[in-house]
Amino acid sequence: MKAIPRLGFGTYGRTGPTGIVALEKALEVGYRHFDTAQSYGTESEVGAALRRSGLAREEVWITTKIDMSNYGPGRLVPSLERSIDNLGLTPDLTLLHWPSKNAEWPLDVYLSQIIEAKEHGLTGAIGVSNFPIALLKAAMAQVGAGEILTNQIELNPLHNNRTVAQFCRSVGVLVTCYLPIAKGRLRGGPTIEAIAAKHGASVEQVALAWELAKGYAAIPTSSRADRIASNFAARDLALAQEDIAALDALPQTARTIDPDWGPNWD
Ligand SMILES: NC(=O)c1ccc[n+]([C@@H]2O[C@H](COP(=O)([O-])OP(=O)(O)OC[C@H]3O[C@@H](n4cnc5c(N)ncnc54)[C@H](OP(=O)(O)O)[C@@H]3O)[C@@H](O)[C@H]2O)c1
Repeated sequence: MKAIPRLGFGTYGRTGPTGIVALEKALEVGYRHFDTAQSYGTESEVGAALRRSGLAREEVWITTKIDMSNYGPGRLVPSLERSIDNLGLTPDLTLLHWPSKNAEWPLDVYLSQIIEAKEHGLTGAIGVSNFPIALLKAAMAQVGAGEILTNQIELNPLHNNRTVAQFCRSVGVLVTCYLPIAKGRLRGGPTIEAIAAKHGASVEQVALAWELAKGYAAIPTSSRADRIASNFAARDLALAQEDIAALDALPQTARTIDPDWGPNWD
């Protein structure tokens, strides 16, 4: 199976013609991993940008996510077929976007359907998002430890989600960081600003380089061509061990995405 490129492009907000322009810019500067979702309304934009790029399908990794409203019996597979129509391609990876809202559906109801989708060739691999440890363990017990490629979670130097990240690492589930640059809120932190100044880098590049150094995938987004390019250049930034240790020790802030119907976080 092809490998997931560790630095991807988030697509939340990249809708319509301006969204396609941003996606084309991302392809031009070298992103080969795009993160969309049924709820973002960006699946067709991702497909359109990829077709316009002229790149071969196998050169780009596409992830989509199943919306919770499609977890009920008989709903998930048809919803993924609609995603495939929107994208104009079969995704490499499909995630369960959230644990079922207020536990409306037991895990096995929707997990069995995403497995069925994979068996029917509707996705290359499967994974989860916003799954706390107990639910991730239950999913692995149901489908086999090697079947869950990633757990996509909020993670950046200000919210390092250490307990879940360490568990994922211990069981070989890739951590994918969403909000990897904390929506631009890293600026002004003395430690990260000092590390950025030392390397002649931006604080966003430092955050992304820290995530990549830890073996995570990260999916920043931007509407701006300059930031799309500079964020991608984080791949070339090699942090010193002391930088990584200093970022590891940053005071932590509350998670940003915390809906009242969300799971009990670890
Ligand atoms: N699984 C989930 O539940 C979940 C939840 C949230 C997000 N996600 C995924 O993760 C992706 C990333 O998350 P996100 O978009 O919420 O947050 P993010 O990537 O951490 O931050 C994006 C924001 O930061 C700004 N920004 C980007 N580059 C910057 C730079 N170099 N300097 C300063 N500001 C910069 C952007 O504004 P400009 O456009 O003005 O540059 C945008 O407002 C999403 O697009 C989505 O694919 C998944």
